[in-house]
Amino acid sequence: MTAPRDIGLSGLSRQVSNSYSVSTSPQSTFRRPSSHIANQLKPFDTKNIKVLLLENVNTTGVDILKQQGYQVEALKISLPEDELIKKIQDVHVIGIRSKTKLTERVLSQAKNLIVSGCFCIGTNQVDLKHAAQRGVPVFNSPFSNSRSVAELTIGEIVCLARKLTDKSVQLHNHNWDKNSKSNWTVRGKTLGIVGYGHIGSQLSVLAEAMGLVVIYYDTLNIMAMGSATQVDSLDTLLGQADFVTLHVPETSETVNMFGKAEFDKMKNGSYLINNARGSLVDIPALIEAVRSGKIAGAALDVFPNEPGGNGPYFTNDLNPWTNDLLSLENVILTPHIGGSTEEAQSRIGEEVAQNIVRYVNEGSTVGAVNIPEVTLRSVTMEEPDTVRVIFFHKNVPGVLRSVNTLLANHNIEKQNSDSTREVAYVMADISNVEESEIQELYQNLEALPARIRTRVLYHKGHKM
Ligand SMILES: NC(=O)c1ccc[n+]([C@@H]2O[C@H](COP(=O)([O-])OP(=O)(O)OC[C@H]3O[C@@H](n4cnc5c(N)ncnc54)[C@H](O)[C@@H]3O)[C@@H](O)[C@H]2O)c1
Repeated sequence: MTAPRDIGLSGLSRQVSNSYSVSTSPQSTFRRPSSHIANQLKPFDTKNIKVLLLENVNTTGVDILKQQGYQVEALKISLPEDELIKKIQDVHVIGIRSKTKLTERVLSQAKNLIVSGCFCIGTNQVDLKHAAQRGVPVFNSPFSNSRSVAELTIGEIVCLARKLTDKSVQLHNHNWDKNSKSNWTVRGKTLGIVGYGHIGSQLSVLAEAMGLVVIYYDTLNIMAMGSATQVDSLDTLLGQADFVTLHVPETSETVNMFGKAEFDKMKNGSYLINNARGSLVDIPALIEAVRSGKIAGAALDVFPNEPGGNGPYFTNDLNPWTNDLLSLENVILTPHIGGSTEEAQSRIGEEVAQNIVRYVNEGSTVGAVNIPEVTLRSVTMEEPDTVRVIFFHKNVPGVLRSVNTLLANHNIEKQNSDSTREVAYVMADISNVEESEIQELYQNLEALPARIRTRVLYHKGHKM
């Protein structure tokens, strides 16, 4: 790869406009981001972009956006809908976490909004369909906390085997209870991982390093890490594992996948860990299995109903069996903290902010959850008179033909498009474009009846 060059310092600073739809001034100077693509043109005026970040987005993400020269306002709080509506009218980028709701009402007032980032795992808080219909990609960070969940699971395996949390509570209550009965080392025991995706496979590596024998069950045929072995059925796994840990998503197949029948098939005195989703385990069946001694302990980080905020809400009002669960020995209960580490938050900030930058500066929608994922390789310094057209449109017949008719006066260097049921997205780089032609090109694209949103990215290294 070519060594990074500072465009600004090498005299290649460019005056650029991001888009006629969001930019009022094409006069500012482009500032190079500290990235590996420094030898490529980024036809964009970053100074015009206004970013609103809510809910205390991690500083890693804030810094990445600021380094682009965007105008970033970062608030620690979430905003109530009416206040949000006032603020969002002005901004091109909004970054939220799980509390802020981007409803249809909010989004319909967001006239300048071009992209939204959820600095968290889920995207339920956004009306994704409406965002797509407005040509607003939504990015999130689904896998940034995999390592954190895997590490928590490792900790729990040891804690369960040694009844560590109960022993600690006892000593906090002044009770010295030193004995080794039913306390185990984990080396040589079998760990059964159900779901060998991002978390399951990370866990596999960590567990083997501690001397556990790893088997896993997954509906897909997945290559094993290290010496782990994939088994052919859940029943096989249940019959062999000393520790069973769940790392599958919530789907119609996995809801209640662990009930009495599954506990009956587990080894006597084995352990269950659920750090995936609360709906996977039938908790009353687990309570019975622990009471009977069939299951020697369990760790639960997720529950069918979870409180919306911090406080003394983990009661029978939340889930009717809560008190029974609390009364069990060697059952570790944690408030959905599997992915909650500083490192995970930092990685989330980095990933979402980088996706936003890639979309704002280059139009790439890779990683978006609500619209087609489309990208083009970057425009290079060797393509000085190239314009990048970014066009969201309704997915109806004939639009691509109309777009290409408009582009056909120029040389289409590269083009990519994709569609979902309702929305389609086209990216095209066209060369030999005079700067004076850009405005007309933009207006012609905007006039197409199926148009949802047009952006034209260019640099003023064009023929001036
Ligand atoms: N506790 C937390 O804070 C926390 C944090 C992150 C993720 N999670 C949860 O952890 C779970 C796993 O996350 P991930 O990132 O590893 O997901 P992933 O998508 O990377 O992996 C899931 C794996 O499960 C497999 N799978 C799906 N259905 C299955 C079935 N019926 N039987 C067996 N295997 C099946 C898939 O093929 C895939 O390999 C998810 O439910 C996620 O929501 C919890």
